[in-house]
Amino acid sequence: MAVISLGGIVLTKSLRVAGNEMDEAIIDYLKKKYNLLIGERTAEEIKIEIGSAYPLEEELTVEVNGRDLVEGLPRMVRINSEEIREALHETLSAIVNAVRDILEETPPELSSDLIERGVVLAGGGAQLRGLDKLISQETKLPVRVAEDPLTSVVRGTGKMLEEDRYLRLFPKE
Ligand SMILES: Nc1ncnc2c1ncn2[C@@H]1O[C@H](COP(=O)(O)OP(=O)(O)OP(=O)(O)O)[C@@H](O)[C@H]1O
Ligand SMILES: [Mg+2]
Repeated sequence: MAVISLGGIVLTKSLRVAGNEMDEAIIDYLKKKYNLLIGERTAEEIKIEIGSAYPLEEELTVEVNGRDLVEGLPRMVRINSEEIREALHETLSAIVNAVRDILEETPPELSSDLIERGVVLAGGGAQLRGLDKLISQETKLPVRVAEDPLTSVVRGTGKMLEEDRYLRLFPKE
């Protein structure tokens, strides 16, 4: 998370929780609720197919294949988007709380910028359905998803390597 003003970074904070932790939360949830063991790739597919951070107009379902932890045999379970939202709840709360924390630390002089310009979400996980809506509800700020969020990190890294003026944006430690 970074608070940016006048083209410079005012504050940064790193919470090592993002897309991968969402996948892990889905694995844990299905293990606990259904005694079903699934792989990381399946968890990611579920997240992308029916994952959400905010109630959907039409809730979604998906069939999940995994291994029954009691019988040790393959089993199919049908799960819905409300369950996956429950699975993601803790991970998403951690993200929301970290955003609120950095906003609390932001100098009040920047409040009008924040209200006017809002929050931009980057990273592939920003594409989770309703994440923008959840963060907007919890921060009372306008929130939008960056253009092509999945590649924003690599594109940003490339820019920093090409032009050192981007590197100078970071406050010296
Ligand atoms: N449509 C989608 N919905 C939810 N997550 C997605 C979607 N598409 C890709 N992802 C997730 O994006 C992640 C990869 O992107 P990336 O690592 O840039 O972002 P991130 O994990 O959200 O943030 P960070 O940059 O902090 O790692 C993977 O976890 C992938 O599953
Ligand atoms: Mg990631």
